[in-house]
Amino acid sequence: MVQEFDRVGVVGLGTMGAGIVEVFARAGFNVTGVEVDDDALRRGRSLLENSLSKAVSRGKLTEDEQRAILNRVSFAISREQLGDADFVVEAVPERAELKREVFTDLDRVCGRGTILATNTSSLSVTEIAAFTSRPDRVIGLHFFNPAPVMKLVEVVSTVVTDPEAVTLGTEVAKRVGKTPVVVSDRAGFVANALLVPYLNHAVSLYEHRLASRTEIDNAVTEAAGLPMGPLALFDMIGLDVGLAVLDVLAAEFQQPRYVAAPLLRRMVAAGLHGRKTGRGFYDYAGDTAPEDE
Ligand code: 3HC
Repeated sequence: MVQEFDRVGVVGLGTMGAGIVEVFARAGFNVTGVEVDDDALRRGRSLLENSLSKAVSRGKLTEDEQRAILNRVSFAISREQLGDADFVVEAVPERAELKREVFTDLDRVCGRGTILATNTSSLSVTEIAAFTSRPDRVIGLHFFNPAPVMKLVEVVSTVVTDPEAVTLGTEVAKRVGKTPVVVSDRAGFVANALLVPYLNHAVSLYEHRLASRTEIDNAVTEAAGLPMGPLALFDMIGLDVGLAVLDVLAAEFQQPRYVAAPLLRRMVAAGLHGRKTGRGFYDYAGDTAPEDE
């Protein structure tokens, strides 16, 4: 029997965190979204509001439903506000020291029964769990971008996870309309271990000028029927996020296919992280000319 709960905390309101807030609030949960300061909170709130407004303008959501969803969401700049949360999802940037800080706080603030979940795509869930005094109640809950749309959620179990926590994670994913897949904690889990090396391969083809970015993307959308080409998809998920996944795959498995394309590393170093920074393989700011073709 899975415990009943309705208060959810989401720590970190970037692209993924804001999407995860939307997923839970749409499913009827009361959600508290936490950020580090007022500016970050404002950005996270705008991501949520814009996404819901877009759904209203497309006729997918009524204004009443939009209001009801927003009424279920509260915002805070202190993790102390999560003291009464039944379930918390962390979606802060992928830096181990930051995860340590967040999980140390959550462990102190949240009740002993609260499940702490991480949306990490590149760090070890086992190591994150070890930052707490309840590693058996820490799981991975890995959403895909855009979180409100993509159906898959990887529920990540470690060698010390309580099976009840995995069951709860699976039930939560179902309750928010997702398709859960239980996976073990290994680099890339399942989906990214398959997907990210493919994206990296596309960068390598582009770097070697085999074709232009649009030709590479069209080759995949037209030939394989996927909704987006690899370079456009890389821009959407974030080049920094993909590079972090490749680096953990390379470190864990020591195989050449996981070595990041040199261009990818250079673009990340240059701050060209994709849509979220206005430029990646494509330009999203609209104020500069496309630089290749
Ligand atoms: N937030 C909320 N809803 C969104 C959205 C967003 N950011 N983007 C699109 N949508 C909704 C639209 O409102 C629309 O809803 P409707 O069908 O109810 O009207 C629906 O999604 C389709 O959107 P569009 O018509 O605008 O555009 P497309 O049909 O081209 O779909 C897409 C957009 C869903 C992004 C599609 O191109 C797609 O599925 N792309 C592949 C995405 C993918 O592979 N994601 C996984 C990345 S890997 C990852 O995230 C893991 C990480 O760890 C790296």
